[in-house]
Amino acid sequence: MSDLLAELEQFESEAIAAFKNARDARELEAARIEFLGAQRGRLKELQGRMGPELRAADKETKARLGSKFNAVKADVTAALEQRKRELDRPAAVAGGLDVTLPGTCPELGRRHPLAQTILEFKDIMGRFGFTVADGPEVEDEYHNFEALNIPHDHPARDPLANFYLATAQAADGSGARLLRSQTSTVQIRVMEKTQPPVRIISVGRVYRPDAIDATHSCMFHQMEGLMVGESVTMAELKTVLRLFARAYLGHDVHIRFRPSFFPFTEPSVEVDMSWNEPGKPWLEIGGAGMVDPHVLSAVGYDPDRVSGFAFGLGVERFSMRRYGIPDIRLFTTNDLRFLRQF
Ligand code: FA5
Repeated sequence: MSDLLAELEQFESEAIAAFKNARDARELEAARIEFLGAQRGRLKELQGRMGPELRAADKETKARLGSKFNAVKADVTAALEQRKRELDRPAAVAGGLDVTLPGTCPELGRRHPLAQTILEFKDIMGRFGFTVADGPEVEDEYHNFEALNIPHDHPARDPLANFYLATAQAADGSGARLLRSQTSTVQIRVMEKTQPPVRIISVGRVYRPDAIDATHSCMFHQMEGLMVGESVTMAELKTVLRLFARAYLGHDVHIRFRPSFFPFTEPSVEVDMSWNEPGKPWLEIGGAGMVDPHVLSAVGYDPDRVSGFAFGLGVERFSMRRYGIPDIRLFTTNDLRFLRQF
């Protein structure tokens, strides 16, 4: 009886090893026939030899041998089934990569709606022949005010109307630096380095301590435009702005120009677009005008030879109208339910 038990154990380990080592369905089938074949399989043969011994054995031996036989048969059959499943999986290949497992799907990011808007602005203005210029967000007073004809006592320079930086400055206040309050600074930086004709836009962040509401933020984006050349006129300014607004917002948008004042343009206008809120038919989108001759002279241009127009548009407000966004604060609250819609 101990011989039979040992044989059963040997049978079990050999059968399991043979099934595990089978490299394909054909090899596995051959192993199955060898160990579990119904007619001449090794288990069948063992079972045949167990018959006489079992008949002669006492009750306890019968039970031990019988249950060992059943356990071995179950284990070996399970090993066969397991290997079958493994070989059935097409990807159970060397290297351990199993392409049938469910994958981990990375969440795809997307551009922020304002980043999309800015790219589109650059694309549209590029088609009108405007190239892109950049300027720093931390500015000196010269580029933010002086070169733009904004004198020392102008209310726009009020410390309470700007974000001044706490950097070292001279006793008379010179050398002060601030977060730029308008992209018009880039007009000056471009003209200082370039001779006319000039045709640029510059898009970026500007900062003002404005009271925050649905259409005002303390950090927002502007697109500055500047075109200087021989005989550039107000007619061209109006055409460029109208074509731009229609290209971005569609042909049903209306643009109107109101006389206004900016120290660095003469004449100056404020630009409004039609707005779809009841009781609020227009929303201001920017300021514009013909570059003041003082500004041209200050950068070394000859105002008798060249003229130019400039404009500064609020990027958020265009985006809000295009997508029907009711509140400017939605751009910066990082609510994924909002951002995923773009
Ligand atoms: C200016 O900033 C001038 N630099 C524009 C300009 C450029 C005039 C070139 C002439 C020549 P204004 O302060 O009006 O102008 O701002 C322009 C636009 O920025 C506004 O029409 C509005 O669309 C947007 N804007 C202004 N303040 C805010 C704010 N707090 N939040 C969101 N958008 C604003």
